[in-house]
Amino acid sequence: MIKPLPYVEKIQPYVPGKPIKEVERELGIKRCFKLASNENPLGPSPKVVEAIKEFISNPEELARYPEGSGYYLKNALCEKFSKQGITISHDDLILGNGSNELIDIAVKTFLGPGDEAIMAKPSFIVYAMSVISQGGTAKEVPLKDWRHDLEGMLKEITDKTKIIFISNPNNPTGTMNYKEEFESFMKELPDGILLVMDEAYYEYVNKLDYPDTIKYFQEGRDILILRTFSKAYGLASLRIGYGIAKSEIIKEMNRIREPFNTNTIAQIAAEVALQDETHLKKVIEINELGKKYLYQELDKIPNIKYLPTQTNFIYIILPEDKSSKEIFESLLKEGVIIRPVGPREIRVTIGLPEENKAFIEGFKKSLNI
Ligand SMILES: Cc1ncc(COP(=O)(O)O)c(C=O)c1O
Repeated sequence: MIKPLPYVEKIQPYVPGKPIKEVERELGIKRCFKLASNENPLGPSPKVVEAIKEFISNPEELARYPEGSGYYLKNALCEKFSKQGITISHDDLILGNGSNELIDIAVKTFLGPGDEAIMAKPSFIVYAMSVISQGGTAKEVPLKDWRHDLEGMLKEITDKTKIIFISNPNNPTGTMNYKEEFESFMKELPDGILLVMDEAYYEYVNKLDYPDTIKYFQEGRDILILRTFSKAYGLASLRIGYGIAKSEIIKEMNRIREPFNTNTIAQIAAEVALQDETHLKKVIEINELGKKYLYQELDKIPNIKYLPTQTNFIYIILPEDKSSKEIFESLLKEGVIIRPVGPREIRVTIGLPEENKAFIEGFKKSLNI
């Protein structure tokens, strides 16, 4: 049989959150809650649903290729930033089939066999997968006090380093690095290394000292800021995200980008979603309420630890005599899907009140409380 490239065999395949239908089918459960993939439990704005219905009622449009440049969505993004006093042009933007695709495009554009990329451990697993798939080396720097060890990451830089990935806030811990420490990091970061700032959970952050990464883009630094419509905008199924970088970087990435990488429905949905600020506010409010409830209930459970989160998920460390696998399986039987992310660590997405309640009840039961 044909052999894969030697570095392809080194990739640990991504294990997605278990789908609801699969659990219902396998365990014969009627109602199952998925709190495993940091999806938005409220879904997208109703205005998005209307816009999609209108689009699909026109079969002729369905037969056409998408607008490859994403012109209208880019307009909407530029307008949104302009309202915040930030000037961004179409040339500074790139759309992706989820921000995931933009990670891949950045890697393919700037890193080759033998090159290195630096990232935290644990962090978003796709960074390492993408780097290894190009024959590069993923240098993982352990988190320090559950946050990116920015100084430690700088120390790992060699003349082979092409990319540094920072997930801020970080998946799976939900923690973030602050403005001041980030400022010092940026002072030390040499030119010629692409900093990929993955801000997939940006909309959920409620801390004032969140780093202003747009500032570094405006200063002309080698930075690519990634954001997504999969989380707070509730469009994970449509796969759409965007990147902001100086036009020289975007121009190079566009050479690698497939001509029609984002589909028309996703572009329309994202454009409409951006305009419904009331819905976004509601999403954040529900998340804050769910977070408060979960903190309150988790505080009552002995021998567990959780990390305060800046996202729509919570990282929980189990008692020493419990494994994440056994808790995952026992919660499945209660109809709640969560994500084991380490031997004793689980990650739970903040859901709607009834979902959060089902998790807490199932969690206590699986801990024999
Ligand atoms: C930190 C981080 N980055 C990127 C992504 C990818 O998001 P998407 O490809 O749906 O935009 C995720 C998804 O879970 C994530 O957690």
